[in-house]
Amino acid sequence: MSPVKPTILVTGGAGYIGSHTVLALSRAGYHVVILDNLVYGHQDLVEKVLQVELIIGDTADRALLDHLFQTRDIAAVMHFSAYAYVGESVSDPAKYYRNNVMGTLTLLEAMVAASVKKFVFSSTCATYGVPEIIPIPENHPQNPINPYGATKLMVERILADFDVAYDFKSVRFRYFNAAGADPNGLLGEDHNPETHLIPLVLQTALGKRKSISIFGTDYPTPDGTCIRDYIHVSDLADAHILGLEYLLKGGDSEVFNLGNGQGFSVREVIAAAQHVTGIDIPVQECDRRPGDPPALIGSGEKARKILGWLPQYPDIKDIVVHAWQWHQQRHQ
Ligand SMILES: NC(=O)c1ccc[n+]([C@@H]2O[C@H](COP(=O)([O-])OP(=O)(O)OC[C@H]3O[C@@H](n4cnc5c(N)ncnc54)[C@H](O)[C@@H]3O)[C@@H](O)[C@H]2O)c1
Repeated sequence: MSPVKPTILVTGGAGYIGSHTVLALSRAGYHVVILDNLVYGHQDLVEKVLQVELIIGDTADRALLDHLFQTRDIAAVMHFSAYAYVGESVSDPAKYYRNNVMGTLTLLEAMVAASVKKFVFSSTCATYGVPEIIPIPENHPQNPINPYGATKLMVERILADFDVAYDFKSVRFRYFNAAGADPNGLLGEDHNPETHLIPLVLQTALGKRKSISIFGTDYPTPDGTCIRDYIHVSDLADAHILGLEYLLKGGDSEVFNLGNGQGFSVREVIAAAQHVTGIDIPVQECDRRPGDPPALIGSGEKARKILGWLPQYPDIKDIVVHAWQWHQQRHQ
C-alpha cells in the first residue's frame, strides 16, 4: 500500500490553473482543500469534477485562515488566487494591490503563525517587463510595466524576505501564457471576462464573437504579429506537483520559469485554430496596444534540470485541440 500523502491547501482552486492542478494533485494521491471566494471560480466544476472540499472564503480573512490551519493538518499551500487582468490593474491598481499583495500577506502571516512553511506561488512573466534577452532566463531583470506585474513581484520579494526571517520555503513559478484544457475534457478555461487569445479565437469559431482582433501587424516578427509562449495548463499542473514535492523533500526556495522555450505568433495561433476547428475564423486587424512587447518567450531549462519537468504538450495544435474539445462541450 502506498503511504498516505499529506493535505495541500489550494487557494484559487476553483479557477482555471488551480482546478487543473487540483485534479493532478488528487490523481497523485494528495488530499486537497480548496479556498476560493468564487469571485471568478466555478463551484460546479469543484463539486462535479474535482470532488474535494471547497471552503468559500477570502485569503484576506485572517480568522478564517487561522481556523483552517488549526482544524486541518496542512503540509503546504499552493497559492493561485489573485486578480489577473492587466488592463484593469492599470485602471484600478488599488484592487490589485489589496487582493494580490495584502490578501497574500495575510495568508503568509497565518501560515507562519501555524508553522506551515512550504508555499508554491503563481508568479508571472509580467514581472520581467520588456525583455532584454529571449528566451528569458530567471535571472533576467524584473521591471514590470503594469500594476499586475508589480503585485506579483512584490509577493516574490516578500517570499524571499520570509525565507531569511522565518525559514519559509517557497517555489515561485513565473508562468508564460497558460493555455489549453484537460486532455480528457473534464476541465478547461472559462474566464469571464475572457482576455486570452486561444479562448477568444475559439469563441469566434463557435460564433459567440463576430471576429478576433489582431492588435498590431507591424511588429518586428516574421509575420508582423506578437509572439507568445503558450504552455499547456496540464503541463503547468505537473510542474506544480514537482515543485511541491521538491519542497516537501526539504528543497530550498527557488524560482522557475514555466514556458516552452518557443513562441507562436497571433497569426500562427489563429491558423492552428482554423486547422483544428475546420472553420474560417473572421479576423480584424487593429492598432498595436500600448505595452505589448513583440515577443515573450521563457526559458524552461531550469525547471527541466532541477525539477525534471518535461512538458507533454508543447505543440500549439495539441493545446488548441484540447481547448476546442472543452469549448465545444461547455459553450454550445
Ligand atoms: N492564466 C495565465 O495565463 C496566467 C499567467 C501568469 C500567471 N497567472 C497567475 O496564475 C494564477 C491563476 O490564474 P488563472 O488564470 O487560473 O485565474 P482564475 O481567475 O481562473 O483563478 C483565480 C481564482 O482565485 C479566486 N480568487 C481571487 N481572489 C481571491 C481571494 N482573495 N480569496 C480567495 N479566492 C480568490 C478566484 O475566484 C478564482 O477562482 C493567478 O495568480 C494569475 O495571476 C496566470
